[in-house]
Parts: sequence; structure tokens; C-alpha cells
Amino acid sequence: KKVSIANTNIDKGGYKHFMAKEIAEQPTVSTEVLNHYIRRNEIVLPDAGLDFTAINRLTMVACGTAFYACYVAKYWFEQVAGIPVEIDVASEFRYREPPITDGTVALFVSQSGETADTLAALRYCAGKADKIVAAVNSTESSIARESDLVLPILAGVEVGVASTKAFTNQLMTLAVLALEAARQRGRLNDEQLAERIAALRSLPGLMNSALTIESRCEALALKLAEAKDILFLGRGIMYPLALEGALKLKEISYIHAEAYASGELKHGPIALVDKHVPVIVMAPRDGLFDKTISNMQEVMARGGRVLLISDAKGIEEAGDGVWESLVMPEVDPFLSPVLYALPAQMLAYYTAVAKGTDVDQPRNLAKSVTVE
Ligand code: G6P
Repeated sequence: KKVSIANTNIDKGGYKHFMAKEIAEQPTVSTEVLNHYIRRNEIVLPDAGLDFTAINRLTMVACGTAFYACYVAKYWFEQVAGIPVEIDVASEFRYREPPITDGTVALFVSQSGETADTLAALRYCAGKADKIVAAVNSTESSIARESDLVLPILAGVEVGVASTKAFTNQLMTLAVLALEAARQRGRLNDEQLAERIAALRSLPGLMNSALTIESRCEALALKLAEAKDILFLGRGIMYPLALEGALKLKEISYIHAEAYASGELKHGPIALVDKHVPVIVMAPRDGLFDKTISNMQEVMARGGRVLLISDAKGIEEAGDGVWESLVMPEVDPFLSPVLYALPAQMLAYYTAVAKGTDVDQPRNLAKSVTVE
């Protein structure tokens, strides 16, 4: 089943593309998802049946952008809640048939709720996992129907094939779930939880400020559009974001883009670096900032052209000699993947616009992949 723009009764609301509209909607839809799951300083889940104290392992499975949301969430669940997390793309998971041990909760993330591989992975886990949980945008979907607990991500209809607001709302939902897990497991006291919630609540406002760098992204995209290959680098929780940035760019601009964990650079991809390959470094000032920057300097020492994405202080500290930079608002490092998704989306969007591709319906791709 292909979602057709013609069959949806929403319009572009004055934007040139649905993708542009959906990028701009993120402050609004992220507020909605927060209001849904958080009342004052309390996390409210739709079902009381999820006991995180009884969990030994969380298995998260998805495809495409939803898989990268799982990848970010792995860091959250491990670091904040202390739960071992396994993640996999559904097409591998379903045929690998991994053992599902007692105390496993299986969590499936899907915008459409209809992705064939994700649904098959869910069916494999049914009856084996303690609980099947789904984070979906479409709550009327097969994945939602076959799950024990459904967490709507409340992003509203997403038409652009390249996922944007669904990604950030998947992240918001998973962040809330990780905080609830941490609370139940006694790893966050009331005060610490309140601090995390306040940080989450600040995100829609920070997204609004991040959207103001749109014209900078548009200008940079003109340069990126000339490249044949582009590398994305990130460390720690920013590594999955680098993967998502590369996916977004290749999906809609058709430029070959790859992401690496910046520490892996010297194990291969540095061989690709020359002045023709822009290297986009996603480096909020978190605990790994210095390490990421030293990897960035290795790129620059080999003539690589670096686009550094960081906050003003990060760029002031480390931006000497970079090709270009993008100044982001300061954000709690825990939540930087959510905020840094926006420049990744805008760079991809404007690069595609510069190349004249069909942004909302890129060649060979479908919004919902219901065949294997
Ligand atoms: C397709 C879409 C992607 C999406 C992926 C998973 O490849 O083009 O944007 O991330 O499917 O879709 P789902 O609906 O399961 O999130």
C-alpha cells in the first residue's frame, strides 16, 4: 500500500513541499506528544502493565529512520535506566531468529505500523517476549493491533517519504519511556526526573530557534549539492544521528552519503577524505566533544572540508580552520539527537531542492513498505 499525496486531504499549507511543512511542524507536534505523556512532573503511560523492574532486556526492532530512533533510544535506556538493549533492523532480526529470554520486552517502532519486516519481527516475538510494545504514528495499523501496549507518537499525517516529524516524535516518546523506566528502577529520584522533564519541555522552544538557521542550511546546501560523496561523523548518542543525517541526504538528494562513528574514522573511511568530500561533524558539547573534535582535526589535517555543527561555544572553541559551521542552540546533551535532527533534515531538504529532485516522492522509495 502506497500512501499517495493525492489521496490525503491535507495540503502543503503554503510550503513548497510536504517535507518542508513537516519539518516546520516539529515544535508543535513535539509539544503534543509531551502533553500526552507528561502531566506536571508525572509520566503517564496508556497502560500500567509495563513493569520495568522486571525487565532484563529490551529488544528494539524497526526499519529505516525508525531504526535510527531505536538506536538513539538504546543509549537512553542503557545510560539512564540501566537496561541492556538490543537493536536490529527488522529484515535481519526476523530471519536471525534470536533467542528471546525471560524478562525481555520487545519494542517495535514504525511510523506507518504496516512495514512488512517489522510486522514479521513482531509476530516472531509474540508469545516469546514478556510484552510486545509498539511506538507507532498510525494507531489503526497492524503493528498497533498486534501489540500488548501501543504508544502513539502523535506526529499527525506525514506525507513526505523521508521521515522528519515522525522521527523526532518517535524520539520524544522513547525518551519519555526511558525516563519512566529509570524512575521505576530507582535510578532517578523525583528531583532528577523533574530536571529531565524540564529539559524535554524546553525542546519545542529550542526547535523553534533551530528552525531559524534554515537560510544558513539553504546556503550551505548549494555547496553540498556539488559533492558526489558526503561523510557524516558523530560519537556516542550522536552516532545514530549521523546515520540518520546520511540516510536523509541520500534518500532525497541522491548524493552518496555515509555515516561513521567518529572513532572508527581511522579504521577505513579516512581513506576517502580529500577536498572533494564534505565531512559533516555533529558535535554538541557533550562529554565526548573533545574526542569528536580530535577526529575532526584528523580529517582537516588530510585536507578534508569540515562542516561543524555545534553550539556557539563549541564552534568558538573548536571551529578554527573548518570549512563551514552551523550554530545550534545549546541543549541538554541527553537530548541533543532530537534537536540536531533538524539541521540534518534541513540540509538534506535544501540539497535536494538545489538538485531539483522530487523531494516528497524520491525515486524508488515508498512511504510504507508492505512487501518484503
Ligand atoms: C520506508 C520509508 C522510511 C521509513 C521506513 C520505515 O523506507 O521510506 O521513511 O523510515 O520505511 O517505515 P515505518 O513506517 O515502519 O516507520
